[in-house]
Amino acid sequence: MIHLAAIDLKREKINTLLIPVCEDTSIHTDAAILALVESALGLEEFQGKKDQEVILYNPSGLSVERALFRGLGKAEKLDAEGLRQMAGKSLKRCAKMGVARLWVAVPHAVGLSLDASGLLTALLEGAVLGNHVFDRYKQEKETKPLARIDFLVPAEQARRFQKLPAQIETVCRGTLLAREWVNTPSNEKTPEQFARLITAAAKKSGLSARVFTESELQRRKFGALLAVGAGSLNKPAMVVLEHKPRSGRDTVVLVGKGVTFDSGGLNIKTGPSIGDMKCDMAGAAAVAATLLTAAALKLSRRIVGVIPLVENMVSGRSTRPGDIVTSFSGKTIEIGNTDAEGRLILADAMAYAVKTYAPKMMIDMATLTGACVVALGEKIAGLFASDVALQAELLAAAGRTQERCWPLPLPEDYKELLKSSFADINNMPSAREGGAISAALFLSEFVGSTPWAHIDIAGPAYQKKESAYCGAGGTGFGVRLLMDWLMHSN
Ligand code: BES
Ligand code: ZN
Ligand code: ZN
Repeated sequence: MIHLAAIDLKREKINTLLIPVCEDTSIHTDAAILALVESALGLEEFQGKKDQEVILYNPSGLSVERALFRGLGKAEKLDAEGLRQMAGKSLKRCAKMGVARLWVAVPHAVGLSLDASGLLTALLEGAVLGNHVFDRYKQEKETKPLARIDFLVPAEQARRFQKLPAQIETVCRGTLLAREWVNTPSNEKTPEQFARLITAAAKKSGLSARVFTESELQRRKFGALLAVGAGSLNKPAMVVLEHKPRSGRDTVVLVGKGVTFDSGGLNIKTGPSIGDMKCDMAGAAAVAATLLTAAALKLSRRIVGVIPLVENMVSGRSTRPGDIVTSFSGKTIEIGNTDAEGRLILADAMAYAVKTYAPKMMIDMATLTGACVVALGEKIAGLFASDVALQAELLAAAGRTQERCWPLPLPEDYKELLKSSFADINNMPSAREGGAISAALFLSEFVGSTPWAHIDIAGPAYQKKESAYCGAGGTGFGVRLLMDWLMHSN
């Protein structure tokens, strides 16, 4: 779908050409493009200011049907995210106009705070991520994604970055898959259905996939996970995906919270927050999509994805507040609140992963707490790490991908909040304050000495309104972050 093209504009017949323009600096070198920019800037309504847009039809001298100019603002303020957003918005605009094929005049990096590779990466990512519509449940399909996008670059760059488009497209398709899974309504992604969706995709990509059924989970004593699933007619399951290249020695484990719907259980959610709780499996979606992407790109490291899946519902079989269960690790847990279910299924999944794989590192991703959204807002994830090097690597990946994370602490003395009068630990902290931290501390009790990071994505996993390169709903947050981390660390 995306390609680098070194072509002579004068000779090409082009339907739609996108030309990004800065308000204070010339960022193109091709004489034909420069002439087009000149005529656009001659118009009263266009100065290249951020988000300005103008279309010229059949400009003279070229066989270009329409030239779409997008303002980027001041060059010194332009960063990778600015380009990603510009590309995303342009793609959305083109899809709405019914454009099937787009050419993009890639600016040259000189005078910008980016190198050629950073610049191209951002443009390609924004384009692929913005070129996506989730209309599976609409009879009338209003917009159609573009079929092909060509990025015009000098011949030398087309050669140097030959492999970039396929790699970026593969990673971004992982993000899009995660978005689609999150957007799928809970009545069509019960734990067993979602497990099938994941394993079907895994088979195609050469991953090994295994599904633990409810009876296997019972036999293996996943007491905390089963307690969460108990109230639903839809049985729980756990998917384990393995990417095992010959070269890989150490194992990295990724764990994703997969609550296909979170009603809160008997501590039922009141108010509007229950309405979006189909998104409570976004961690699972991100982890599964990351494994699929890692397999598609044939990464050389050994990666295991552990994905516990449950529906948190209300019935005569629901777990009650005050119930005490024995978790996979052997620790007993008093379930002080049935709405703090994510930490229960993660506790069992992580204890299982540590015991089975003795991983070199483990990262879990979860829509875990409303408190994290209160702390960091809807666009930034909370990052908790038991290992400073791992934390630094993840923060670097967050910076590169703009899947933002902010470090939060794991203070030993706050474990006080999780004391139970009757069991080894309570899933409900005794104080409301610091809720994201107490949730992370609860998880820390189940990872042993494994270097571990927890990413609370309750904010960025889902959005009510569309943004520059993402529609309303699931964002696919985490796939680019984890992929970037996997490819940059070792
Ligand atoms: N799934 C929710 C957290 C959540 C909130 C996700 C908002 C996405 C958006 C989680 O299971 C939950 O309900 N957590 C409780 C924990 C509390 C009972 C200790 C919360 O955050 O209120
Ligand atoms: Zn909950
Ligand atoms: Zn939840």
